[in-house]
This record gives sequence, C-alpha cells and structure tokens, in this order.
Amino acid sequence: MVASQTAMLVPSVPVTASPSRTVGPSSVPGGVHDNRMMTRPDMTSGATAAGGGGVVNRLRPRRSCLAVPGSSARFLEKAQGLPADEVFLDLEDACAPLVKDSARHATVDALSNGDWGGKTRAVRVNDWTTHWTYQDVITVVEGAGASLDCVMLPKVAGAAQIQALDLLLTQIEKAMGFEVGRIGIEAQIESAEGLVNVEAIAASSPRLETIIFGPADFMASIGMRSLVVGEQPPGYPADAYHYILMRILVAARSQHLQPIDGPYLQVRNAEGFRAAARRAAALGFDGKWVLHPDQIAAANEIFSPSQEDYDHAELILDAYDWHTSAEGGARGAAMLGDEMIDEASRKMALVVAGKGRAAGMARTTSFQPPG
Ligand code: GLV
Ligand code: MG
Repeated sequence: MVASQTAMLVPSVPVTASPSRTVGPSSVPGGVHDNRMMTRPDMTSGATAAGGGGVVNRLRPRRSCLAVPGSSARFLEKAQGLPADEVFLDLEDACAPLVKDSARHATVDALSNGDWGGKTRAVRVNDWTTHWTYQDVITVVEGAGASLDCVMLPKVAGAAQIQALDLLLTQIEKAMGFEVGRIGIEAQIESAEGLVNVEAIAASSPRLETIIFGPADFMASIGMRSLVVGEQPPGYPADAYHYILMRILVAARSQHLQPIDGPYLQVRNAEGFRAAARRAAALGFDGKWVLHPDQIAAANEIFSPSQEDYDHAELILDAYDWHTSAEGGARGAAMLGDEMIDEASRKMALVVAGKGRAAGMARTTSFQPPG
C-alpha cells in the first residue's frame, strides 16, 4: 500500500462554503457540518482532516474500491491486507436476506477490531425501498461510527433519499457524541430514474463524496440487451456507456465530488477489466470498483497518471507560479519548452498533479527558471 493512502486531498487555499452546497438537511439551523463544504480550486495531499479548521477530507484516493461481502468472515479478514484505496463492506446485494442481520454485526466487528491500514472504510447499506436500511445504518454507525468514513447508499432515485440518510446520520452522531457531519455519503446511480435526477442528487447534501455508476442494476433498469456486466452489449457499434458515464461525471464534478465507475464482473478477464477502466479513467473518473484482488493493481495503475504526465503537470505548476511572480515578470501566459501555458493550463495540471500526489507518486524532474 502506498504511504499516502492516508493522505487526503484538500484545498491548499482557505476553504469557503459554496452556496450551491447549502441545500439539504444539514444546512437547517442546528445542522453543524456546513464546514465540510468546500470549493476545490486547488489540491494538495497530506493536509489536515476534518475538525476545527474548517478544512475537510471530501476527496480521498479512490482508484480501487474493493467490494467485500459483509457476511463473509474470510473476506472481511482478507480484505484488510489488500492494497485497495477504499474498501466497502457490503450489506446489500452480496448478502442474502437471511444473513442481513448477522452481516451487520460482522461488519461492526470487522470495522471496530480490524486493521484497515489507512484505507477509506465504507459500508454499503440496503436501499430505501427495502425494510433494512434504517437498521443497517443504526447498527453500523452506532456500533462502529468512529471507524467508518462513509455510508454508501445504493439505487439512489432522488435527492430526498440522500437527505433522509443525512438526517439519520446526524441524529445518530448527535446521540452517540460523534462529530456531526464527519461520516460521508457515497451515492450509487443504478436506474433510469437515478440518472435523470443525478444533478439534484449530486447537490443534495454536503456529506456527499462520490457518485458511483452501478452498471448491473442500471443495465437491468434500461433494458440493455446484455448479461455481461461492464462489457459492451453485442450489436451496438459504439460505447453504450458513454452518455451514462458523462452525465455522472459532469454531475459529480459540478459539485466537486468524485465520479467512480462500477464493477466489471468477469473477474478472470484481466484485459476486459483494463479496457473498461481505461475508458473511465480517460473520461476523468477517479476510480473503479474492484471485485477481486487481481483487479486492484490494475485499477491503481490505470487511475494514477503516468510518470511522464505527473512530472509534466508538476512542471507546469512550478513554471506558471514562477512566470506569474514578480521575479518571473508577472506574466499570465508564458512558454514551458515549446508549449504555451496559462491559467487554464494550471487548472488542468492541478487535476493530474492532485491524482499523482494522492497516489503517492514522486517527481523525477524539477523546474529550472529560464536564463
Ligand atoms: C452495482 O451495484 C451494480 O449494480 O453494478
Ligand atoms: Mg447494484
């Protein structure tokens, strides 16, 4: 595992509340976690976590998000030693109805007593159309809230479902004496209805950290003619997921959230997984679910920038800093080698540099001011 997995991406400039995020239950009087809202004009790794300073860990390394059935003692144990950026202990579709309750308790035990080595720890609860959700949340958060980073809500159909979870979390945090608002929410988009409402969902709560594509349920929801989850359906000559992924990506980015791609179920098809991951990474997704240990290294590699791109991004940032300084001539546009750079180049470089820093990459080049 890379050392920086514990490092969060946070703004390196003073954090300001974003008016667009002041919606939802947490902003009502008495809701005290507005300090989690932030704009993300800049990113550095290794800065402070939540609490006191108003700077919060909304963005975390999530290149590989490992699904772990909450009902399997063996997998709960094994997952702890695997180099995924995030683990999510699953109480939903990986748990049969008869073991839902025992899985809750096994999950609390694994979170409280396991050694997760700095990984982001989430629990996927059942969706609000079942009768399990409230008990999942109460059992897990009361039992292991201090050892939990996020609750993942599947099959999100609209903003109200996120707000309901936000309210429930706030009550539990207050009752238990936990820091109110520390636990984040991850939202899965898995239906036509969820996708239609994805912009409102992304803006529904300052607890939200990610918007996740759930291809299996989504394919069923829209009637896609394929049973191979994450693969292109036969007979369609282009990328059948492009529209869906782009909507999720844009909705997530519009609220400074992380877009995450869902699972690829053919776990023995390494090349198929890599191709699907590369497509999502190229669009701008921050990570992908992994279902098998063999998929972890591929996801970590594919969702990190290449060494060349990372070095280049850091060079642009240094060069732009220098050229815009008094010493460098206070210029807004300047040359870096054969390339012209300006404020837009800086923004693009920040994205790549932020991903590289979160992945624990080290620079192999440094900026030398001209002349
Ligand atoms: C994940 O939950 C999916 O439905 O693909
Ligand atoms: Mg699903």
